[in-house]
Amino acid sequence: MTLSLFPSSQTPTARPAAAPSGWRGLIEEYRQFLPVTDATPVVTLREGNTPLIPVPSIAAEIGKQVQVFVKYDGLNPTGSFKDRGMTMAITKAKEAGAKAVICASTGNTSAAAAAYARRGGMRAFVLIPDGYVALGKLAQALVYGAEVLAIEGNFDQALKIVREMAETYPVTLVNSVNPYRLEGQKTAAFEVVDVLGDAPDWLCIPVGNAGNISAYWMGFCEYHQHQRCQKLPRMMGFQAAGAAPLISGHAVEHPETLATAIRIGNPANWERAIAVKDASQGAFNPVTDDEIIAAYRMLASQEGIFCEPASAASVAGLLKVKDQVPAGATVVCVLTGNGLKDPDAAIKHSENPLKQGIQPHLEAVAKAMGF
Ligand code: F0G
Repeated sequence: MTLSLFPSSQTPTARPAAAPSGWRGLIEEYRQFLPVTDATPVVTLREGNTPLIPVPSIAAEIGKQVQVFVKYDGLNPTGSFKDRGMTMAITKAKEAGAKAVICASTGNTSAAAAAYARRGGMRAFVLIPDGYVALGKLAQALVYGAEVLAIEGNFDQALKIVREMAETYPVTLVNSVNPYRLEGQKTAAFEVVDVLGDAPDWLCIPVGNAGNISAYWMGFCEYHQHQRCQKLPRMMGFQAAGAAPLISGHAVEHPETLATAIRIGNPANWERAIAVKDASQGAFNPVTDDEIIAAYRMLASQEGIFCEPASAASVAGLLKVKDQVPAGATVVCVLTGNGLKDPDAAIKHSENPLKQGIQPHLEAVAKAMGF
């Protein structure tokens, strides 16, 4: 006699093979808002649909019945918001018959370009500033199969080279000067509105090359035109104090910040960013590395959200200008990249000591635990 685990009436029936369903990637989900046709060969890793997470401890710092959320774009397939732009840029490059793409990068763009280009059957060339790309991002670019060229210069110099390169050689530029990048990235604003039911009052965002702030604004404006939201947010951009050209009004020749992702002295989307600030009645403010790290630690140790240092600039900035937040406002801070991208920063800046040298015995462990 065979023993059944289930009485016959409860025998589980085989489920039919699930049809592909769920989130199909942002090009499919927002197709009507994007420059694609039925013939466009979509290259996707099902990016987008990242969570909007309430952060009550940050809200409590502000008080005034303010609601604060983070848009955790570090949960995209390669761990940053760049996947949104890259699914579009690589899809359009493939549609145009490109065989190779190129970008300059502080790390995240190179990881995303590598993943999507290889998935689309293209070569990916990436120029990075030697010694200033977080370890996780470098690892990604290499393992995804990019051809990684480390230059003895900074991001701004690398961007200048790849722009010229793309004019002369058969490689498609996929930095945010490629308009399809911003088209893809604007979908993050759509997602925010789809969850909140309207635009937030404030959108706080780290600014480097200023592509993302421009893309968010495009997204909010398009949704507003389609009556998907009733209001538009004030766009609050934050730059690292050592790399803050949009605040000083002039290019920074030697940008410096531990937030290497936004270590940029001459943003490619400079005019666009100023136009966004003006149109939205927003503001740009600097945040110091110490303020960035304080917000970075707070997000991780009080909210359970691990972002990379550059991403924490949005929360650091919000806390810096908290007196200006209107009572009862809804605020969204964009967390652009995953904390795992930069393990060196995490270990270096954690206040939490690693307890080592513990003997492998119950008593020794209990003692180390403080019992
Ligand atoms: N946050 C992260 C984690 C980034 O990687 C970047 C840009 C930004 C914010 C700023 O976005 O340039 O659109 O203003 N990283 C680029 C790169 C430069 O090469 O990965 P932006």
